[in-house]
Amino acid sequence: MTLLSTKATCNTHGQDSSYFLGWEEYEKNPYDEVLNPNGIIQMGLAENQLCFDLLESWLAKNPDAAGFKRDGNSIFRELALFQDYHGLPAFKKALVEFMAEIGGNKVTFDTSHIVLTAGSTSANETLMFCLAEAGDAFLLPVPYYPGFDRDLKWRTGVEIVPIHCASSNGFQITAAALEEAYQEAHKRNLRVKGVLVTNPSNPLGTTMSRGELNLLISFITAKGIHLISDEIYSGTVFSSPGFVSVMEILKDRKCDNTEVWNRVHIVYSLSKDLGLPGFRVGAIYSNDKIVVEAATKMSSFGLVSSQTQYLLAALLSDKKFTKNYISENHKRLKQRQKMLVAGLQKAGIGCLKSNAALFCWVDMRQLLHSNTFDAEMELWKKIVYDVRLNISPGSSCHCTEPGWFRVCFANMSEDTLNIAMQRLKTFVLDSTVNGRNQNNHHSPKNSKRRSPKWVFRLSSPDRNRESDER
Ligand SMILES: Cc1ncc(COP(=O)(O)O)c(C=O)c1O
Repeated sequence: MTLLSTKATCNTHGQDSSYFLGWEEYEKNPYDEVLNPNGIIQMGLAENQLCFDLLESWLAKNPDAAGFKRDGNSIFRELALFQDYHGLPAFKKALVEFMAEIGGNKVTFDTSHIVLTAGSTSANETLMFCLAEAGDAFLLPVPYYPGFDRDLKWRTGVEIVPIHCASSNGFQITAAALEEAYQEAHKRNLRVKGVLVTNPSNPLGTTMSRGELNLLISFITAKGIHLISDEIYSGTVFSSPGFVSVMEILKDRKCDNTEVWNRVHIVYSLSKDLGLPGFRVGAIYSNDKIVVEAATKMSSFGLVSSQTQYLLAALLSDKKFTKNYISENHKRLKQRQKMLVAGLQKAGIGCLKSNAALFCWVDMRQLLHSNTFDAEMELWKKIVYDVRLNISPGSSCHCTEPGWFRVCFANMSEDTLNIAMQRLKTFVLDSTVNGRNQNNHHSPKNSKRRSPKWVFRLSSPDRNRESDER
């Protein structure tokens, strides 16, 4: 018998997913150009490190912002004491203006609708607490961001029911897939409280089309349920078609102040668009007053520190800076994504055409020795241990087709990306020169030496749904 709670001892957190295990392996043997050139290159972390110079240069020119000062005078005491869970008004204003700016000012956001949270992680969980009871379900298109098992389910007891998306139409959501997921939840005696999407998508790296967004609005209207749109990558869209916020669709459909208007909620964060995941700054934007009030009270469990709010209020209020940052960030991301796609191409590997986010959704089906998730896992282990690249297997995103991997491109230097592509090319060449299924014929001695000790307990219920698409 244990004196600990079931929550503390259960494994629904998802920590044993290959998504997190890959990070652990990277930590044991991290690549460093000088100190560890044979180490594992981290390509499983969606971080944007491409524009630190712009942020650092702004900080150097604005020393008051990070120095607890206003007009040269110390405001240390004010910041040390301030902790109103409604957030700093100047920061909330700057944040909603930034959200509008990255969306091309097609919609404006009202500060009274926003709740500050410690990143999107906290925003998504808080919304679950506000919208659902333990045992209720949210429908999510698969593949989805692996962290959602932790963020949406773990502490809340909410269930995720997959909306199956397939490679045959570029993993887009269809009306039939939505209805099938809804019926599946009913079969499992789960009450469906809403749909949650990421737009742009993690892990696909694509923006949602107006058609998909309209479909979602029609669906949640017909079913009388909520829609959460996690728009954490909305400022990380670097090619056409551009980003369309669900709020824009609501406006177009003249849904203002209707019932459905109150059932649509946005999640945002500065972790990706500004590359500041360590600052823990996120937000919920909701049209429902009661949700805003409840989430504000709940935000006590994950506030954004006052000095962070103060610093970012100054940074985001500098419109000259934000304008330049947004356009420069897009330029650099676009170039970097092109580099990855070209590098993959040289290795004979394709990927889903993408226009956003910090990763590509890479198709390695031709490298599998069979169309199964066991084969995907085998390939993944080879890529982590032999090629020494940590990438995320599709199964960790609950993808229903084996052979897809999420590969990040913005958390390293160009040189490191080139080395990663060179390693991958050599691996593919070796595999194909020695026969398509050479991966299968690794000497047992060798694989024993390199094999990880951990056992994979993939939490995906779809694991055994072998694709018959191929
Ligand atoms: C879709 C999505 N939502 C939420 C998060 C969590 O972000 P944050 O660092 O703001 O908590 C991530 C991080 O990768 C993400 O990709």
